Amino acid sequence: MKKVSIITGGAKGIGAAIGYRLGKQGYAVVIADVDEEAGKYRENHFRGEGIDSFFIKTDVSSEMDVSNMVEKVYGRYGRIDVLVNNAGIGFSGKSIEEQTLDEWRRVIETNLTGVWLCSKYAVKYMKNNGGVIVNIASTRAFQSEPNTEPYSASKGGIIALTHSLAVSLSKYNIRVVSISPGWIDTSRWQVPPRESTLSGLDHGQHLTRRVGKPEDVASLVTFLVSDDASWISGVNFTIDGGMTVKMIYIDENVIQDSLTMLFNDVEVSYQIRKLIEKIKKADNKENIKSKLDELLRSL
Ligand SMILES: NC(=O)c1ccc[n+]([C@@H]2O[C@H](COP(=O)([O-])OP(=O)(O)OC[C@H]3O[C@@H](n4cnc5c(N)ncnc54)[C@H](O)[C@@H]3O)[C@@H](O)[C@H]2O)c1
Repeated sequence: MKKVSIITGGAKGIGAAIGYRLGKQGYAVVIADVDEEAGKYRENHFRGEGIDSFFIKTDVSSEMDVSNMVEKVYGRYGRIDVLVNNAGIGFSGKSIEEQTLDEWRRVIETNLTGVWLCSKYAVKYMKNNGGVIVNIASTRAFQSEPNTEPYSASKGGIIALTHSLAVSLSKYNIRVVSISPGWIDTSRWQVPPRESTLSGLDHGQHLTRRVGKPEDVASLVTFLVSDDASWISGVNFTIDGGMTVKMIYIDENVIQDSLTMLFNDVEVSYQIRKLIEKIKKADNKENIKSKLDELLRSL
């Protein structure tokens, strides 16, 4: 019998690539997304590729939407095997003093409460036959840039929710895991697809020398929901091209490497580094400033 997967936020980006991969493996793919236009586009795309696909407009932060969505899926297919809790939103980057309670709640309710709600309702049917829940967290559960409190907290919450659910649901033969992607370029999976605008510096700073693709995450999901992963539950998998294991202390070598990636030219970066060293040592900084001014104007 055909297995059934629900992908929240499956209309665009990482979720769309996950749905595509699971569909190609023979799963029926339910796209549970709040964006109706993109959801219909993706349903047509998948059907055109021979995938049994079904879009249900769903806001994962609404209990009524989630409950209705799960009932519709069960009514249509009679089983639920895989739930990928992928729907998520970012945060504007305002400072903690400027963040509003409404903004905090919106991010937490979508990114974290949505995972809890979809799991709560899907379990009602997943427990009939066992299954796998995959929660998409982020490396930002463990590391931060400034002014990202709601997003980081929501993703940290997913890590804890994952092990908690894994322990509670093992009696139903339901495994629960999380994936923490690093930087993923979703351009090609947007609606409509876009060209990537990434630079050499963006790619080059990864140990793998490239920014991630939605397909990288989809590959891990297909492994984790397969029987080959039947001994894995409750844990998180970081998939980030090695970014989070890289310790960075800023020194001249890091600057030189960054310049090389930026210009894609060793000679130019070497000359700029030499220039920086000379400026550092120079006594007359005013003279240097006017010379730099001259240089800039001549370019
Ligand atoms: N792209 C990255 O670099 C990256 C890195 C780490 C983690 N993530 C996580 O991966 C997941 C997917 O991100 P993406 O980059 O593909 O984003 P995206 O914006 O391309 O896609 C997200 C999808 O979720 C849907 N969505 C948003 N709010 C929803 C709601 N309330 N209910 C249902 N659907 C909703 C959107 O309509 C969209 O289709 C998110 O949880 C995100 O936090 C992304």
